[in-house]
Amino acid sequence: MSKKVLVTGGAGYIGSHTVVELVKSGYDPVILDDYRNSDPSVLKRITQIIGYEPTHVVCDVCDQNRLEEIFKTYSISGVIHFAAYKAVGESVENPLKYYSNNIAGLVSVLNVLKQNPEVSFVFSSSCTVYGEPMGLKEVDENTAKSIPTSPYGYTKWLGEQIIGDLFISNNRLRMMSLRYFNPIGAHQSALIGELPVGKPNNLLPFITQTAAGIHEKLVIFGKDYPTVDGTCVRDYIHVVDLAEAHVKAIDHLLSLKNGCHEVVNVGTGKGTSVLELVHAFEEENNMKLNYTFGPKRSGDVIEIYANVDYAHSLLGWKATRDINDGVRDAWKWEKSIRNIQ
Ligand code: WQD
Repeated sequence: MSKKVLVTGGAGYIGSHTVVELVKSGYDPVILDDYRNSDPSVLKRITQIIGYEPTHVVCDVCDQNRLEEIFKTYSISGVIHFAAYKAVGESVENPLKYYSNNIAGLVSVLNVLKQNPEVSFVFSSSCTVYGEPMGLKEVDENTAKSIPTSPYGYTKWLGEQIIGDLFISNNRLRMMSLRYFNPIGAHQSALIGELPVGKPNNLLPFITQTAAGIHEKLVIFGKDYPTVDGTCVRDYIHVVDLAEAHVKAIDHLLSLKNGCHEVVNVGTGKGTSVLELVHAFEEENNMKLNYTFGPKRSGDVIEIYANVDYAHSLLGWKATRDINDGVRDAWKWEKSIRNIQ
């Protein structure tokens, strides 16, 4: 009997890719989503990829009573908690929306986990907890967490703190916080990918939408940073590599006899500048992108990328895809949703 893993936000960008990889590894994912920030049509596309309709439940993660029912109905072995808002800019304009949903939703799931201590738990955290890493470029899990630069970042920073405090109160719980760097790309089938709501905040969706003619040009925010070419540097990780890391995290937690709260970076270990990503997109997809340079975006970290040694030693996981795979799959996905040949 395949172990059931509850995937909150399972119809979202990273959630949907993780559902596919869980099935590939023999798990039976239960998708929990209320589609406030995702599209129910993703279920049909996941079905096309995995060959059957995955179990799915409509539920607001803040509805603890409903969550308790779901845990019982499906005898859940593990939970991967994605369901949260994640737009940095929006969080600055509407902080209470982020604190009420991201924090209350996490606490609701953890309350049910407390009643089911045999269930393993993986939390979707973010490199944003490092803030501006004090002049460092490469960060490892022991690099001091800095003051996040947005309410969104604070919900991830506080989320890890809450999980850590819960572990102190009950060290039988098996929990892991995965600090994502910058997810890019899409499943090679081009059936699932990133569906930004409205104008994308993130770089690669803006690039692919510009290439698709939706925007006249890409504005690169700042060109005189102290980096390789003056533009900001990030660690762009293919979303399927990121999904595979979640499966390894569940594998690991389910294999443990004792409790834990592990914090793990999930990146490629390589920094890529904005301009390098733009040029990789142009070369890989054999096109010229219309871009210009504009003012710096406030809150942007100058340069950050992951030290991924711990993910490798603890989980036996490494990213196997590079930015060329990411920009190719992202463009294939954009063309599929815009019906571009
Ligand atoms: C990357 C670089 C921009 C758009 C955020 C979250 C992080 C994670 C990923 C969830 C920056 C530049 C962007 C544009 C540009 N989210 N850029 N023109 O800010 O590194 O991280 O998304 O886990 O938690 O904080 O990602 O893609 O917005 O920006 O020049 O139109 O691209 O200035 O240097 P970011 P991003």
